[in-house]
Amino acid sequence: MDIVGVNKYIFGAPIETDAVTADIDGSEGNVRFVDVSDDKTVLTCKLGKSDKIYGLGEAVRGINKRGWIYETYCTDDPMHTETKRSLYGAHPFVVVDGESVFGLFVDYPDKIVFDVGYTKTNELKITVGAPDYTLYVIEGDTPEEIIKRFRSMIGQSYIAPFWAFGFQQSRWSYYTSKDVRGIIDGYRKNGFPLDAVYLDIDYMEDFKDFTVSTERFPNFKEFVSKVKEENIHLVPIIDAGVKMEDGYCVYDEGKQNGYFCKDKDGNDFIAAVWPGKVCFPDFLNEEASDWFGMKYKTLIDLGIDGFWNDMNEPAIFYSEKRLADALEKVVSYRGKNLGIYDFFGLKDVVLGLSNSYEDYSSMYHNMGGRKICHNRVHNLFGSRMTRSASNAFRKIAPDKNILMFSRASYIGMHRCSGIWMGDNQSWWSHIKLNLQMLPSLNMCGFLYTGADMVGFGDNCTEELALRWLALGIFNPLMRNHSALGTRDQEFFRFENKEAFKNLLSLRYALIPYLYSEYIKAVKNDELMFRPLAFAFRGDKFAEACEDQLMVGESIMIAPVYEPNAIGRNVYIPEDGMTEVRFKSPMQYEIKEVAKGHRFVEIADDEVVIYIRKGKALPLVKPASCTAELDLDTVSFIGTPDEGFAYTLYVEKGAENGESIIEEKVICP
Ligand code: GLC
Repeated sequence: MDIVGVNKYIFGAPIETDAVTADIDGSEGNVRFVDVSDDKTVLTCKLGKSDKIYGLGEAVRGINKRGWIYETYCTDDPMHTETKRSLYGAHPFVVVDGESVFGLFVDYPDKIVFDVGYTKTNELKITVGAPDYTLYVIEGDTPEEIIKRFRSMIGQSYIAPFWAFGFQQSRWSYYTSKDVRGIIDGYRKNGFPLDAVYLDIDYMEDFKDFTVSTERFPNFKEFVSKVKEENIHLVPIIDAGVKMEDGYCVYDEGKQNGYFCKDKDGNDFIAAVWPGKVCFPDFLNEEASDWFGMKYKTLIDLGIDGFWNDMNEPAIFYSEKRLADALEKVVSYRGKNLGIYDFFGLKDVVLGLSNSYEDYSSMYHNMGGRKICHNRVHNLFGSRMTRSASNAFRKIAPDKNILMFSRASYIGMHRCSGIWMGDNQSWWSHIKLNLQMLPSLNMCGFLYTGADMVGFGDNCTEELALRWLALGIFNPLMRNHSALGTRDQEFFRFENKEAFKNLLSLRYALIPYLYSEYIKAVKNDELMFRPLAFAFRGDKFAEACEDQLMVGESIMIAPVYEPNAIGRNVYIPEDGMTEVRFKSPMQYEIKEVAKGHRFVEIADDEVVIYIRKGKALPLVKPASCTAELDLDTVSFIGTPDEGFAYTLYVEKGAENGESIIEEKVICP
């Protein structure tokens, strides 16, 4: 079938990734906009001086990706500094917006290097690992038109359950049911809203997937059901590696049935993660994948209705073989006077143990009877793990929409799951990175997403927590998560409890709007978070704006992301916007503002947003959880045009594993 504006070019013998759902005929002849090297591994495009490049999903740096070199390669790396080239997800879709406007999707499941005006300032150079891939060239008048075409090619994005728009609290780890109880009480007794608490790896017995420690979580089923009565969902983590332990049924079954990834000699590939030695289920083998998916039933039967899949790049601490070589090398340094080369050599031996390319090269999959080296399909591993769960959910509990999000991802997984932005840090720069990744991820189909609010690694401050919360309330996945050993950062622990409570309540007042705008973005293949550059094309200030976003049809956000700030510069892109200064959902000031630059004072207990001229923002009365929101009583603020009507989406149960969603048109 021809899709208007899309040309598909097949090079070599690509591995089926399942990223594209539309049935598109291959094109013959020269590739438009792109020079293809003779060996087909290098694609180059000339860039005009002010051309902008968008896309690449989960990546460091700005919304406009120009001026850096990126790699689409699922990578377990918690140091998201601006010098990094890849993060956990691999999303090889870019849009060039300049003298020519076009999009490129390079559908290839291993590493691709995107040199976006880095080596040569006027060139986009894409280097694909092997000449076996499918290239889609997408045309359109504007980046948004191209994105919409691309999104319609890759299929409708995942719809999370409504409760998953509530606030969720996590930490590595809440070790016991008593700890979890303490967290729920901490929120509820202080009058803060809350919908979910996360169970990190320590809920398990010795880090074994699909087990629950009976010592730390006695009567787990009762516990899950008791907190469910209080409208709290417990969300356990599932890791990709299965502990090697005879007698542990997941390991035994996997081993007996040959469901694990193999080494080159056909033995189970052994690596180490949290529990020590593990085997990796071969998610590229349909049978193995179906088997693993059905394992989630153990926890679903205990009342669980949400999961997060982790360490599925896959993250490897070390492989047996590599550890043996490394230990031998380390011993060889004994007694030496370690100078520059030896000392750094020694360090490299130890640091190079994890996530090594050599290990990935010695791991094999069985894809429909074909033995495929992991290095050819690396970016599919986490996606397939997640798809296996999502497929199984429909069979296990068709009457529920079970929450699922993953750390690793490839385009295509956006149809069955969300993602979180991985192990960030409690750094001010990561508030801005959170904001900038939202539109880039939306471009690649990932709409249910958010960063670990307040930062995963490192210690936060109260001021950082408040400022991050002021952005976090707009993230579809609104989760406060932090790493082992870091300062406690649950919101009720801070001094200015009132401010945290007010901002959390504001989230709940906004949920019907956020959910509706999310559903619209899903249904229409559009962005929920739009760069100002897209909304106000031709306005050079809007086009250069990297720290404000349009959220849905009605509002613009401009959060503060610097310490000790009294406010920030805001660019108002059109006349007649309404500035709303929220202290709480009930307490706000409104004023009309004119187009232009202005410094806006914003205290750390306030959220300032802007409503577009002619539009209105629906709000509901906040509640302590999503189940208690009164969605029938909606009020509006803003300056709606005459005849303005708002399309609200409301979840009414689930069937076939998906939410049933009702559409309602309401007027101010
Ligand atoms: C990984 C995850 C993080 C989790 C930790 C322990 O680092 O990204 O979210 O807390 O593992 O399971």
